[in-house]
Amino acid sequence: MASFLGIFTKRNLLVLSLALNLSLVLRVVYEGGKDGGPHGFSVEEQRGPSMADMGFGKEAQATQRTRLSVSSSSDQDVMEKVINLDHGDPTMYENYWQQMGGRTTVVIPGWQSMSYFSDVKNPCWFLEPEFAKQVVRLHNVVGNAATDGRQIVVGTGSSQLFLAALYALAPKDGSEPISVVSAAPYYSVTKNLFTCWQIKAKSNASSYPSMTDCLKSGLYKWAGDARSFNKEVPYIELVTSPNNPDGFVRHSMVNRTGGILVHDLAYYWPQYTPISSPSDHDLTLFTVSKATGHAGTRIGWALVKDLEVAKKMIKFIELNTIGVSRDSQLRAAKILEVMTNTSENLGSFDSHESFFKISYHLMAERWQLLRAAVNRGRAFSLPDFTPGFCHFLNQDSQPQPGK
Ligand SMILES: *[C@@H]1O[C@H](CO)[C@@H](O)[C@H](O)[C@H]1NC(C)=O
Ligand SMILES: *[C@@H]1O[C@H](CO)[C@@H](O)[C@H](O)[C@H]1NC(C)=O
Ligand SMILES: *[C@@H]1O[C@H](CO)[C@@H](O)[C@H](O)[C@H]1NC(C)=O
Ligand SMILES: *[C@@H]1O[C@H](CO)[C@@H](O)[C@H](O)[C@H]1NC(C)=O
Repeated sequence: MASFLGIFTKRNLLVLSLALNLSLVLRVVYEGGKDGGPHGFSVEEQRGPSMADMGFGKEAQATQRTRLSVSSSSDQDVMEKVINLDHGDPTMYENYWQQMGGRTTVVIPGWQSMSYFSDVKNPCWFLEPEFAKQVVRLHNVVGNAATDGRQIVVGTGSSQLFLAALYALAPKDGSEPISVVSAAPYYSVTKNLFTCWQIKAKSNASSYPSMTDCLKSGLYKWAGDARSFNKEVPYIELVTSPNNPDGFVRHSMVNRTGGILVHDLAYYWPQYTPISSPSDHDLTLFTVSKATGHAGTRIGWALVKDLEVAKKMIKFIELNTIGVSRDSQLRAAKILEVMTNTSENLGSFDSHESFFKISYHLMAERWQLLRAAVNRGRAFSLPDFTPGFCHFLNQDSQPQPGK
């Protein structure tokens, strides 16, 4: 929700950047409220310190300009709320998980999971077998990804996996770093810094470019928008589908064949987009944060066809963090298990508890409020998405991009 700025059209973004007018935006919000209609944008309470307070430094300051803070002396009304356009935080599913109660609680005794190793027989030796099992179960039930014949690589969020993939895919003996491209508007790979490239173009602080270039690797370098990339050199293209920030289903955009593709399908879940068929790519990234809302667990996974590529990714994670928190994987495994069970009415769950059905309706409700608020003014517009048949929900469903 927070980066809904990203779903405005280019023209509107321009208007926005030229005259980011707080009073104008607030009028959209509050006039909605006063009329007794929907209370405008879904406004979330700000939690914790801002990114700048947390020492994110310049980058965060650059994004402060896109943050609309609202404050007032009254402490009970909506004026206390902040519309945070700087980054998303998927706390909207908290309510659901509260209702699941103790069924998602994980208890880890002090003596458990002490070793570095989760499974020495697996090429990904730090992958918890229970987590791997639940990933496969969930994909099979949702039908959003083929898992057969793939190596699962677990990562500390999909951002670590993105870097691991670049490391694995870049030729080690190239005379120049391989070009890394993605079609604009780009998606932020540091999932907790949802940023829109177009808004921050001046500061170059967006995450795909900055993650690609921050260490000035000799292996790969950021080469910009996939649509305008026309160099006759090897390249890696990041395909984010559905895309953040604009929510559209994406395919490769470079007007050439022979590129290496990395698919980021963080949002390919039924609450955000119709599940048309299981994805079947060479290297696909998923993350717990978008699927379940557990952003703080910092767990992502990659499905990798080529074992040699997977091994290089594993090597990267070994060099980088010597594996991935086993505690986090166990917690994530439990959450995924419950998601699958609620979808299948297994265990103690019944059909009223289906995570994906409930979160689909939650997203629908939030989009309805957003559209109602936006339609009250002329300053902004929202794209229309084409509904599609969702094989998981077994109905036509609306794309309703998250954050
Ligand atoms: C912002 O909006 C206020 C009230 O609507 C108006 O008085 C002011 O001129 C606007 N400023 C800009 C820069 O558009
Ligand atoms: C942003 O990136 C572009 C292209 O890489 C570069 O030409 C420009 O100088 C950069 N701007 C800043 C402020 O770093
Ligand atoms: C793609 O490339 C071909 C030739 O390389 C060119 O003729 C064509 O116009 C390009 N298409 C787009 C959409 O840029
Ligand atoms: C989920 O379903 C499986 C298979 O029926 C069952 O063994 C397991 O205990 C269930 N887990 C939970 C948390 O309900």
